[in-house]
Order: sequence, then C-alpha cells, then structure tokens
Amino acid sequence: GGLFGAGGRFKGGTDPIMEKFNESISFDKRMWSQDIRGSVAYAKAIGKVGIITDDEVKLLVDGLGKVAEEWKEGKFIIKKGDEDIHTANERRLTEIIGPTGGKLHTGRSRNDQVATDARLWTVEAERDVLKDMALLLTAAANYSKEHIDILMAGYTHLQPAQPIRFSHWLMSHITPLVRDAQRLQEMIPRANQCPLGSGALAGNAFGVDREFLAEELGFEGVTPNSLDSVCDRDFVVEFLMWHALMLTHISQFAEDVIINNLLKCIDIDDAYATGSSLMPQKKNPDALEILRGKAGIALGKAVGFTATLKGLPRAYNKDLQEDKILLFGAMDSVKDCLAIATGVIVTMKPNPEMLMKALSPEMLATDLADYLVRKGVPFRETHHISGACVRLSEEKKVSIDTLSLEELQAIDSRFEADVAKVWDYEVSVERKNSIGGTAKASVLKQIEDVLAYAKTL
Ligand code: ARG
Repeated sequence: GGLFGAGGRFKGGTDPIMEKFNESISFDKRMWSQDIRGSVAYAKAIGKVGIITDDEVKLLVDGLGKVAEEWKEGKFIIKKGDEDIHTANERRLTEIIGPTGGKLHTGRSRNDQVATDARLWTVEAERDVLKDMALLLTAAANYSKEHIDILMAGYTHLQPAQPIRFSHWLMSHITPLVRDAQRLQEMIPRANQCPLGSGALAGNAFGVDREFLAEELGFEGVTPNSLDSVCDRDFVVEFLMWHALMLTHISQFAEDVIINNLLKCIDIDDAYATGSSLMPQKKNPDALEILRGKAGIALGKAVGFTATLKGLPRAYNKDLQEDKILLFGAMDSVKDCLAIATGVIVTMKPNPEMLMKALSPEMLATDLADYLVRKGVPFRETHHISGACVRLSEEKKVSIDTLSLEELQAIDSRFEADVAKVWDYEVSVERKNSIGGTAKASVLKQIEDVLAYAKTL
C-alpha cells in the first residue's frame, strides 16, 4: 500500500487486486491542478494559524509548484502505491522538499480535500460548458435568421397541423437549450462553496480560517456543516441530471431532423452522416442517432449515481469515489455533443421545395374557421363549418382550396369571395404575430433575444 494503505495501523500488504480495485489515480489525476491549488491554499491557511512557519509555507508552496510543473510537462511519474491524486501529490512533494511535506496534511483529510478538488473542477467545467452553449446558441440563432423566409409543415402527433417557419421550428429546439444554460448558471453558485477545513467529518482542529481558504480558491462561500461537506455530492448529481436533461433536448432535436431527413425536407451534411458497408445508396444520420442514444445513457448514469447516494450513512464512504468517473464522463460527453449538434445545425440544408410539398391546404382548415370568426361567427361554430368543408373535400377527393365558392356557401352562407385569400401559407404564418408566434417578426424577436443572451455567457 501507499502512504495511507501502509500507514501505522496496518501490518500486512494490500492484496494486489484490492489495490487495483481501490485506486482512483487512474481517473482522478485529471484533478491534479485543483489538488495542487487546494494544497497551496491549505498550506497558507495552516501557516496563518501558526501550525507551520512562514518558511515552511514557502517551502510547501514552492514544492507544490514543482509538482505542478511535472504534471504540466507530462513528467509526473505515478508510482506503485499512489492510490489517488491526493496521496500521489503529497508523496511527490515530500520527495522534492523532504519531511516538511508531511506537515501539509495537518488537520486535513482526503475527505474534505477530494470534495474541494471536485467542486473546483466542476465549477470550471460548468463555466467551460457555458461557453460551448453560447457557441451553439449563437450559431443556431444566426442560422435561423438566415433561413427566416422558409416555411414548413408543423406537426402535432406527427400529423400535419399548421404551417410554420422553418426557423421557428429550429428555435423551438434552441429555447430549451437556453433554459439549460440558465439552469447551469444557477447551479454554479451552489457548487462553488468551499468544503476545505471540514476535516474528515468533525471539522478542523487547528482553527483554520475557512473563509480565507474559500477566498484563496475563488469559492463564493464556505459549506455550513462539516459532516455534510464531506459527503455532499449534490453538485455531481445536479451536473449529471443537467447533462441528461440537456441531452434529452438535443435528442428531441435529433429525432426531428431524422424525420425531416426521411421526408427529404432537411439534408444532413456528409460530415455528420455515414454510408453503409453493404448498401451503396445509403447515407445514415449517425451523428444524430448517437446524440439520441447518449441521452438515455446519460439519464441512466444520473439515476445510478443518485442510487449510490440514497443509502449512504454519514459521512464519507468510499462509494463516493466513482463520482468522478461519471462527472468527467458527462463533461466530455457534453462537450462532444454540443460540438456535434452545433456542426449538424450549421451545415444542414433545408430543401424548400420538399418543405413546400409537405404543406397541404388542409393545414389551413383552422385559418378557414378563423376567416368566419373574423366575420363574427363563434369559433365553436366555425370549427364545425370548416370541418364540414374538410369532409366535403375528402368525399370529392379534391384539395380543400379547390372547393368553389358555391360549394362553400352551400355549407355556410357567410362565406364570401374573399375566402380565396385563406389559401395562402405565408398569410397564415404572418397572422401568428403575438410573442412566441411563427410570424417573421415574432421569430426574429426570439432570435434576437437568444443572441443577446448568448453574448452574456
Ligand atoms: N480517492 C478518494 C475519492 O476519490 C479520496 C477520498 C479518500 N478518503 C478516504 N477516507 N478513503 O473519493
């Protein structure tokens, strides 16, 4: 065992399989810089209360700087017995500066240490993800602006419903991602609280100034209860759940594009599609399928980790160690997914001809009802009248817009010659000009709002 496994209390060596089972260095080395920063702050904090001298603080801080250099240059050698990033850094520090290295951990536990490192890492990752979100939101909003004039069929229950703007449809997938970005912003202050100085569970026996530690490390505040501090992984759950919800939104987008691709309404760029090993004609929307697939897995992991937490006794338990595998994995997945989704959006090509073909005059049946509403007929009546027109067109096997004025008037005498103006998709779309509607001005407003928000990220 390493520093701790072979500590004073232990006589025998650790079973080699146990060492492999127990180690976390293989993944938590990714937090080397957070671990060094936490230790630098902690060295200063125990210096401040006189546990170590100013010279010792300097020795520790300089030594930690050297360890950091080794990591940065890829020269840090992980040795047998380096159980995790915390023991590895302390082992190397002590090799470099001698026994003073052994003073660093005074009053500290790996329990408050790992919680600190993981929170530092998470906050940085979340800020980084916000930048990626900003790129996607900006790219998608600009793309929507460029394609503002294209109309398409809107569906409910996958049944043709009403004409909408293509951009309105795309912005309908961007709007949830704006909420996701907002949610992420709201999560950061909760993660950004400093657990260092909580000790193993009971608190710090040397009176370290936890507010000083928080300030040194850029945290917004200190965690309020030492037992909770070492086992609170809400910030991990929040990120995993956030990840699952954000991917759920991207998955819905992916599904919509796949359907539109099938309808030949949207062409996916070759960069995000693949061929078939057998069928030469194939171009499969693999990127979108993988995005869709990742959403389910992400949810499973979020639920799985929550299950890990639910039965834990206070305070730290080793069950918590693998939180970082999930955290890092989610972070990598988020970055890949956002990059791919952004790429798919900016390179996809709407096919205006096929989009128009997918529109059919029956999708203006509501507009026909609205026409009579504007002449003072109650909507419940006009809905019925318009329904009768749909039925007549179906019986005659003709398109509803080709029914003659006489035929319409036979259904309801209040139809007049100006009813012909109903059969215009653009007019239909432009009538939806309230906030959030599909009229050009309403969609442009949505686009401008998203662009302005993305700039703040
Ligand atoms: N490697 C451990 C983890 O990632 C660090 C905390 C170890 N604490 C302990 N009491 N064994 O969770």
